[in-house]
Amino acid sequence: MPVISSSACAKLILLGEHAVVYGQPALAIPFSGLKVRCVIEPWINGPTGTLHIKARELQLNQPLQVLPEDNFLRKAVELVLAELGVSQTPTCKLTIYSDIPISAGLGASAAIAVATMRALSAFLGHPLEKETLNRLAFETERLMHGNPSGIDNTVIVYEQPILFRKGELIEFVYPSKNLHFLIADSGIKKATADTVAYLAQQREGNPQFIEAALAEIGRIALFGRKAFEQGDLSALGEAMNANQALLAQLDLSCEALEKLIVAARQAGALGAKLTGGGKGGNMLALITPETQEAVRKALLSAGAVSIYQTNLKGVQDND
Ligand code: PMV
Repeated sequence: MPVISSSACAKLILLGEHAVVYGQPALAIPFSGLKVRCVIEPWINGPTGTLHIKARELQLNQPLQVLPEDNFLRKAVELVLAELGVSQTPTCKLTIYSDIPISAGLGASAAIAVATMRALSAFLGHPLEKETLNRLAFETERLMHGNPSGIDNTVIVYEQPILFRKGELIEFVYPSKNLHFLIADSGIKKATADTVAYLAQQREGNPQFIEAALAEIGRIALFGRKAFEQGDLSALGEAMNANQALLAQLDLSCEALEKLIVAARQAGALGAKLTGGGKGGNMLALITPETQEAVRKALLSAGAVSIYQTNLKGVQDND
């Protein structure tokens, strides 16, 4: 069997995180600046049926069978073997390299699962179709997040901007103008499972208030989708700001994120909000090439521990 290397990108939610768990629409884009790579090689003379897994970022260096049954990587491997009808685990070494920060709102767990499943299915001679890969990756997300919407695995598998709504056909969306973003890490790690569970608990206590806020986020996501497609950058920025205000009302932001968001806006960003699970992790600012340097500097002074940049090419933009 050959050595196989596969990768998967990170993702950014432009609008609609959390509300998407409750059936509202959300807008997300792939973020190819950060990636997971998974390399699988045959383990010559290794113990038959042993898949050794090494992932520095997850502090793993052991045979798969030693991992707990509910470990998402073990699940990812088992799902691929079952899907392909392979009864014996291949004798191989699987190594994961990831530059996507964990528990930071950028979809690291979904990207790790997708890269692993892509590599393993190719190693076994049957690369999975996107639809199948997406279905299996959603199963691993359930282990990680408890009640995921499916947005992370979908945007990571298809690697295209999407308007996502739980249980509905994926809608691919295209910006008409070039879009430029800066992403800044607050340095605070927060598991998405915790923030999703926190909101669920809040919703039980105050269903009317929470439902109204989630519905409003859904409306903002649809408004933002139009702005995204029409290339109306200031309307898209406004949507991001309005979305952030609601996320803060839902207590899903935090001081460090607010500091970064305010700094970005004051330095000229058209809009800024947290991205992903919140209460830590990363924020996202919509910028222009003209404001980029000022916003970057402001984010650094406001405490960003890492800053990334990504651009989306507009379909009608020749710049
Ligand atoms: O924090 P991340 O990258 O896992 O993004 C989570 C997005 C949520 O809407 C909060 C959860 C979900 O499953 O949609």
